[in-house]
Amino acid sequence: MTEKSTLIQELETVQAKAEAELASLSDEGGLAKWKTEYLGKSSPVMQIFKRLPEAGKEERALIGQFANQVKSALEQKYELKAEAARQAALADTLKSEQVDVTLPGRAPMNGRLHITNQTLREVYRIFAEMGFQVYRSPEVESDENNFELLNIPAHHPARDLWDTFFTKKEGVILRTHTSPGQVRAMREFAPEPIRVVLPGMCYRYEQTDASHEFQFNQVELLVVGKHITFANLKGTLQEFVQRMYGKGVRTRIRPSYFPFVEPGGEMDVECFVCSGKGCPVCKHHGWLEILGCGMVHPVVLKNGGYDPEVYSGFAAGLGPERISMLRYRIDDIRNFWANDVRFLEQF
Ligand code: PHE
Repeated sequence: MTEKSTLIQELETVQAKAEAELASLSDEGGLAKWKTEYLGKSSPVMQIFKRLPEAGKEERALIGQFANQVKSALEQKYELKAEAARQAALADTLKSEQVDVTLPGRAPMNGRLHITNQTLREVYRIFAEMGFQVYRSPEVESDENNFELLNIPAHHPARDLWDTFFTKKEGVILRTHTSPGQVRAMREFAPEPIRVVLPGMCYRYEQTDASHEFQFNQVELLVVGKHITFANLKGTLQEFVQRMYGKGVRTRIRPSYFPFVEPGGEMDVECFVCSGKGCPVCKHHGWLEILGCGMVHPVVLKNGGYDPEVYSGFAAGLGPERISMLRYRIDDIRNFWANDVRFLEQF
C-alpha cells in the first residue's frame, strides 16, 4: 500500500492532537474531560469503527487494526497520566490535612452533677442512714401553705411584696422556704409518724449580693410522732453535722424565732478556719450559722392533722449552697446559678 487511506490519516491526526493535549494536562478534572473527548463512545477514534464501510474492502482489516492500536496507545498514556494525577492529589491532601500523631489527645469534657446536687445527695445519704425519706413538694405554692398554716399571719413582714414572688393568680406564690412542705407531708401521713427531708428550690424577691440570691435550695427536716423531744432534735442535728463536716466538730444552738416552731433556734458550727478562735470567715465570732430549727408549733401540728396533746415533732431548715460555701470556701452565692463552667467544673 503506497498511499495511505484517508481514515488512517485521520486517525494519525487525531492521535497526535490527543497526545499533545494530554501532555499539557495534569489535573484530574481536565483528564476526565480528555477521556470523554478522545476515548468516549462518540470520540473520533471510536467512530472510525462505524465508518469502516467507507474504506475499500481490503483496507478495512488494516484500518480496524490501526484504530485498535491508536485506542490502546491513548488508553495507556491516559492511565499513566491519571495515575500521576491521583498520586499528586493524594500527596496534596496528605500535606494539607497533616496530623501530628505525637500531639497529646484532647480529653472529652465530662458532664457532672451541679455542686448543689452533689451536696444534696450527700445530705440525703446521711439522713437516709438515720431513717429519713425524701418527700418532694411543689415550688409554686399557695399563700396559705407558705404562710397562714405555718402560723405566719397576714401582717407578718415575711409576706411583704419585697420578700415574695407573687403570681398573677390570687394567693399563688413561689415558696419562700421549704417549710410549706411540712403541712403537705403532715396532711398526707397523719396520724402516722413522719421522718422526712423536704428538698428543693426556694425564691425570695430581694436584692442579691455575695450572700443573697433570689433563688436557692433548702432542705427541710420534719419528724412527727409520739414523745419526740428537743433532745431528739439536738441529737439528730449533731449527728448530721458530724457526718457532714467531720467527727469532733463542735456545734451550738442559739434561741431564735420562727413563727412555726416553739421553742425555736439556730444552729452554729465551730468555724473550720480558725477552730473557734475568731477570723474574717466567721466575722470573729468563732461560729458559723448553718440552719434554723425548733419544735413544731402546736398550731402547725393541728393544721397538719395531728393532736398536739398526743403528738410532737421537730423541724429544721438548712441551705445546701451554704453548706457548699462553707466547705469549699466559695465567697459568692451568685456563682451557683451564673452557669459559668469555670466555676462548675471545679467540683
Ligand atoms: N423556714 C425557715 C427559713 O427559711 C427555716 C426553718 C425551718 C426554721 C424549720 C425552723 C424550722 O428561714
